[in-house]
Amino acid sequence: MSLVNESKINGAKIIVALDFKDEASTMALVEKLEPSLCRLKVGKELFVRCGPELVKKLINKGFDVFLDLKFHDIPNTVAAACQAAADMGIWMVNVHASGGRKMMQFAREAIDKCEHKPLLIGVTILTSLSRQDIAEVGLDIEPAEQVLRLARLARDSGLDGVVCSPQEVRTLKQELGQDFCLVTPGVRPAGAAIGDQQRVMTPSEALLQGSDYLVIGRPITASPDPVMALDNIIAECSLT
Ligand code: C5P
Repeated sequence: MSLVNESKINGAKIIVALDFKDEASTMALVEKLEPSLCRLKVGKELFVRCGPELVKKLINKGFDVFLDLKFHDIPNTVAAACQAAADMGIWMVNVHASGGRKMMQFAREAIDKCEHKPLLIGVTILTSLSRQDIAEVGLDIEPAEQVLRLARLARDSGLDGVVCSPQEVRTLKQELGQDFCLVTPGVRPAGAAIGDQQRVMTPSEALLQGSDYLVIGRPITASPDPVMALDNIIAECSLT
Protein backbone atom coordinates (compact mmCIF):
# COMPACT_ATOMS: atom_id res chain seq x y z
CA MET A 1 0.00 0.00 0.00
CA SER A 2 1.37 3.43 -0.86
CA LEU A 3 1.94 6.01 1.84
CA VAL A 4 -0.39 8.96 2.16
CA ASN A 5 1.45 12.18 1.38
CA GLU A 6 1.59 14.00 4.72
CA SER A 7 2.25 17.51 3.47
CA LYS A 8 2.59 20.04 6.25
CA ILE A 9 1.61 22.91 3.97
CA ASN A 10 -2.08 23.57 4.58
CA GLY A 11 -2.45 25.04 1.07
CA ALA A 12 -1.34 21.75 -0.46
CA LYS A 13 -4.31 20.17 1.26
CA ILE A 14 -6.57 22.08 -1.09
CA ILE A 15 -7.51 20.39 -4.35
CA VAL A 16 -8.98 22.87 -6.82
CA ALA A 17 -11.77 21.24 -8.87
CA LEU A 18 -11.19 22.29 -12.49
CA ASP A 19 -14.82 22.08 -13.57
CA PHE A 20 -14.32 23.94 -16.85
CA LYS A 21 -15.58 23.22 -20.35
CA ASP A 22 -12.38 23.80 -22.29
CA GLU A 23 -8.62 24.07 -22.16
CA ALA A 24 -8.51 27.86 -22.58
CA SER A 25 -10.60 28.63 -19.48
CA THR A 26 -8.82 25.88 -17.53
CA MET A 27 -5.36 27.24 -18.35
CA ALA A 28 -6.44 30.84 -17.70
CA LEU A 29 -6.92 29.84 -14.06
CA VAL A 30 -4.06 27.35 -13.80
CA GLU A 31 -1.51 29.93 -15.03
CA LYS A 32 -2.33 31.96 -11.91
CA LEU A 33 -1.97 29.07 -9.45
CA GLU A 34 1.11 27.71 -7.69
CA PRO A 35 1.82 23.95 -7.36
CA SER A 36 3.15 24.55 -3.83
CA LEU A 37 -0.21 25.96 -2.73
CA CYS A 38 -2.78 23.63 -4.26
CA ARG A 39 -3.38 20.46 -6.20
CA LEU A 40 -5.78 20.11 -9.14
CA LYS A 41 -8.75 17.84 -9.85
CA VAL A 42 -9.76 16.87 -13.38
CA GLY A 43 -13.23 15.33 -13.58
CA LYS A 44 -15.29 13.63 -16.26
CA GLU A 45 -16.39 16.70 -18.24
CA LEU A 46 -12.93 18.23 -18.67
CA PHE A 47 -11.32 14.84 -19.29
CA VAL A 48 -13.87 13.84 -21.93
CA ARG A 49 -13.42 17.20 -23.66
CA CYS A 50 -9.63 17.64 -23.40
CA GLY A 51 -8.22 14.18 -22.62
CA PRO A 52 -4.84 13.01 -21.32
CA GLU A 53 -2.96 15.80 -23.16
CA LEU A 54 -4.38 18.43 -20.83
CA VAL A 55 -3.68 16.26 -17.78
CA LYS A 56 -0.06 15.89 -18.89
CA LYS A 57 0.18 19.65 -19.43
CA LEU A 58 -0.94 20.26 -15.82
CA ILE A 59 1.56 17.69 -14.53
CA ASN A 60 4.35 19.26 -16.60
CA LYS A 61 3.59 22.56 -14.89
CA GLY A 62 4.43 20.83 -11.60
CA PHE A 63 0.90 20.19 -10.27
CA ASP A 64 -0.31 17.07 -8.50
CA VAL A 65 -3.41 15.94 -10.40
CA PHE A 66 -6.36 14.01 -8.97
CA LEU A 67 -8.02 12.21 -11.91
CA ASP A 68 -11.63 12.01 -10.69
CA LEU A 69 -13.11 9.51 -13.16
CA LYS A 70 -14.68 7.17 -10.54
CA PHE A 71 -13.96 3.92 -12.38
CA HIS A 72 -16.61 1.17 -11.94
CA ASP A 73 -16.45 -1.90 -14.18
CA ILE A 74 -15.27 -5.51 -14.15
CA PRO A 75 -11.99 -5.98 -12.23
CA ASN A 76 -9.81 -6.42 -15.34
CA THR A 77 -11.09 -3.28 -17.01
CA VAL A 78 -10.75 -1.14 -13.88
CA ALA A 79 -7.23 -2.45 -13.27
CA ALA A 80 -6.22 -1.55 -16.84
CA ALA A 81 -7.79 1.93 -16.53
CA CYS A 82 -5.94 2.52 -13.23
CA GLN A 83 -2.69 1.45 -14.85
CA ALA A 84 -3.29 3.84 -17.75
CA ALA A 85 -4.01 6.64 -15.26
CA ALA A 86 -0.85 5.85 -13.27
CA ASP A 87 1.21 5.85 -16.48
CA MET A 88 0.00 9.42 -17.11
CA GLY A 89 1.81 10.46 -13.93
CA ILE A 90 -1.21 11.52 -11.91
CA TRP A 91 -1.13 11.85 -8.09
CA MET A 92 -4.56 10.41 -7.16
CA VAL A 93 -7.18 8.25 -8.89
CA ASN A 94 -10.53 6.90 -7.72
CA VAL A 95 -12.84 3.90 -8.20
CA HIS A 96 -16.35 3.14 -6.91
CA ALA A 97 -16.11 1.01 -3.77
CA SER A 98 -19.46 -0.58 -4.74
CA GLY A 99 -17.56 -2.27 -7.58
CA GLY A 100 -16.58 -4.76 -4.87
CA ARG A 101 -13.54 -6.25 -3.19
CA LYS A 102 -12.15 -8.03 -6.24
CA MET A 103 -12.38 -4.93 -8.42
CA MET A 104 -10.59 -2.83 -5.79
CA GLN A 105 -7.92 -5.49 -5.19
CA PHE A 106 -7.25 -5.71 -8.94
CA ALA A 107 -6.92 -1.90 -9.05
CA ARG A 108 -4.49 -2.02 -6.10
CA GLU A 109 -2.37 -4.74 -7.70
CA ALA A 110 -2.30 -2.90 -11.05
CA ILE A 111 -1.11 0.33 -9.42
CA ASP A 112 1.45 -1.47 -7.26
CA LYS A 113 3.06 -2.79 -10.44
CA CYS A 114 3.41 0.73 -11.91
CA GLU A 115 6.57 2.75 -11.65
CA HIS A 116 4.61 5.81 -10.59
CA LYS A 117 1.99 4.93 -7.93
CA PRO A 118 -0.91 7.36 -7.44
CA LEU A 119 -3.00 7.28 -4.28
CA LEU A 120 -5.97 4.95 -4.87
CA ILE A 121 -9.18 6.34 -3.41
CA GLY A 122 -12.69 4.83 -3.17
CA VAL A 123 -16.03 6.53 -3.75
CA THR A 124 -18.64 5.32 -1.26
CA ILE A 125 -22.18 6.70 -1.60
CA LEU A 126 -22.47 9.80 -3.79
CA THR A 127 -23.61 12.71 -1.65
CA SER A 128 -26.30 13.43 -4.25
CA LEU A 129 -28.12 10.20 -3.27
CA SER A 130 -30.80 10.26 -0.55
CA ARG A 131 -32.09 7.38 1.63
CA GLN A 132 -34.95 6.97 -0.86
CA ASP A 133 -32.64 6.95 -3.88
CA ILE A 134 -30.53 4.12 -2.50
CA ALA A 135 -33.67 2.22 -1.40
CA GLU A 136 -34.89 2.40 -5.02
CA VAL A 137 -31.78 0.59 -6.20
CA GLY A 138 -32.23 -2.11 -3.57
CA LEU A 139 -30.24 -0.82 -0.58
CA ASP A 140 -32.60 -0.59 2.38
CA ILE A 141 -30.04 0.98 4.69
CA GLU A 142 -29.11 4.40 6.08
CA PRO A 143 -26.62 6.10 3.70
CA ALA A 144 -24.18 6.74 6.59
CA GLU A 145 -24.20 3.02 7.45
CA GLN A 146 -23.52 2.10 3.82
CA VAL A 147 -20.72 4.70 3.62
CA LEU A 148 -19.01 3.07 6.61
CA ARG A 149 -19.49 -0.42 5.18
CA LEU A 150 -18.01 0.57 1.80
CA ALA A 151 -15.17 2.56 3.38
CA ARG A 152 -14.25 -0.49 5.51
CA LEU A 153 -14.35 -2.71 2.40
CA ALA A 154 -12.18 -0.18 0.54
CA ARG A 155 -9.60 -0.22 3.34
CA ASP A 156 -9.65 -4.03 3.55
CA SER A 157 -9.17 -4.21 -0.23
CA GLY A 158 -5.99 -2.15 0.04
CA LEU A 159 -7.21 1.31 -0.98
CA ASP A 160 -5.47 4.37 0.46
CA GLY A 161 -8.67 6.18 1.44
CA VAL A 162 -12.13 7.35 0.38
CA VAL A 163 -13.98 10.45 -0.74
CA CYS A 164 -16.56 11.43 1.88
CA SER A 165 -18.56 14.35 3.21
CA PRO A 166 -16.89 16.42 5.98
CA GLN A 167 -19.73 15.24 8.28
CA GLU A 168 -18.48 11.65 7.96
CA VAL A 169 -14.79 12.36 8.60
CA ARG A 170 -14.72 11.99 12.39
CA THR A 171 -16.48 8.61 12.41
CA LEU A 172 -14.45 7.24 9.49
CA LYS A 173 -11.13 8.25 11.10
CA GLN A 174 -12.23 6.63 14.38
CA GLU A 175 -13.40 3.43 12.71
CA LEU A 176 -10.73 3.04 10.02
CA GLY A 177 -7.63 4.63 11.49
CA GLN A 178 -5.85 7.97 11.18
CA ASP A 179 -3.75 6.85 8.19
CA PHE A 180 -6.80 6.15 6.01
CA CYS A 181 -6.88 9.17 3.68
CA LEU A 182 -10.13 11.16 3.62
CA VAL A 183 -10.84 13.50 0.72
CA THR A 184 -13.78 15.85 1.24
CA PRO A 185 -15.82 17.96 -1.18
CA GLY A 186 -18.73 20.00 0.21
CA VAL A 187 -16.41 22.67 1.61
CA ARG A 188 -17.38 26.34 1.64
CA PRO A 189 -15.50 29.29 3.16
CA ALA A 190 -17.69 31.28 5.58
CA GLY A 191 -20.02 33.53 3.57
CA ALA A 192 -19.49 31.74 0.22
CA ALA A 193 -22.45 30.61 -1.92
CA ILE A 194 -23.47 27.04 -1.07
CA GLY A 195 -24.73 26.31 -4.62
CA ASP A 196 -25.99 22.74 -5.04
CA GLN A 197 -24.00 21.31 -2.11
CA GLN A 198 -26.29 20.13 0.69
CA ARG A 199 -24.33 19.88 3.93
CA VAL A 200 -21.25 22.06 3.97
CA MET A 201 -18.39 22.88 6.35
CA THR A 202 -15.80 25.63 6.24
CA PRO A 203 -12.25 24.59 5.24
CA SER A 204 -10.89 24.99 8.78
CA GLU A 205 -13.81 23.02 10.28
CA ALA A 206 -13.23 20.21 7.78
CA LEU A 207 -9.51 20.10 8.62
CA LEU A 208 -10.27 20.10 12.35
CA GLN A 209 -12.58 17.11 11.82
CA GLY A 210 -9.58 15.33 10.26
CA SER A 211 -9.98 15.76 6.49
CA ASP A 212 -6.70 15.11 4.70
CA TYR A 213 -7.60 16.95 1.49
CA LEU A 214 -10.34 19.46 0.68
CA VAL A 215 -11.86 19.51 -2.80
CA ILE A 216 -12.97 23.08 -3.53
CA GLY A 217 -14.38 24.24 -6.84
CA ARG A 218 -16.64 27.24 -7.33
CA PRO A 219 -15.54 29.29 -4.28
CA ILE A 220 -12.19 29.52 -6.12
CA THR A 221 -12.98 28.98 -9.82
CA ALA A 222 -16.03 31.30 -9.93
CA SER A 223 -14.41 34.04 -7.84
CA PRO A 224 -13.54 37.31 -9.59
CA ASP A 225 -10.10 36.91 -8.00
CA PRO A 226 -9.37 33.15 -7.72
CA VAL A 227 -5.85 33.65 -6.36
CA MET A 228 -7.09 35.85 -3.55
CA ALA A 229 -9.92 33.37 -2.85
CA LEU A 230 -7.35 30.54 -2.54
CA ASP A 231 -5.00 32.70 -0.42
CA ASN A 232 -7.88 33.55 1.93
CA ILE A 233 -8.76 29.88 2.33
CA ILE A 234 -5.12 28.98 3.03
CA ALA A 235 -4.89 31.82 5.58
CA GLU A 236 -8.07 30.58 7.30
CA CYS A 237 -6.69 27.03 7.41
CA SER A 238 -3.31 28.16 8.77
CA LEU A 239 -5.09 29.45 11.86
CA THR A 240 -6.40 25.98 12.72
O1 C5P B 1 -17.79 23.77 -6.82
P1 C5P B 1 -17.71 22.77 -5.69
O2 C5P B 1 -16.79 23.20 -4.57
O3 C5P B 1 -19.08 22.36 -5.18
O4 C5P B 1 -17.04 21.48 -6.37
C1 C5P B 1 -16.90 20.26 -5.71
C2 C5P B 1 -16.26 19.25 -6.61
O5 C5P B 1 -16.25 18.01 -5.92
C3 C5P B 1 -16.96 19.02 -7.93
O6 C5P B 1 -15.95 18.72 -8.91
C4 C5P B 1 -17.83 17.81 -7.68
O7 C5P B 1 -18.04 17.03 -8.82
C5 C5P B 1 -16.97 17.04 -6.67
N1 C5P B 1 -17.74 16.13 -5.78
C6 C5P B 1 -18.74 16.58 -4.93
N2 C5P B 1 -19.40 15.68 -4.13
C7 C5P B 1 -19.09 14.41 -4.16
C8 C5P B 1 -18.07 13.96 -4.99
C9 C5P B 1 -17.40 14.87 -5.80
O8 C5P B 1 -19.03 17.74 -4.86
N3 C5P B 1 -19.72 13.57 -3.36
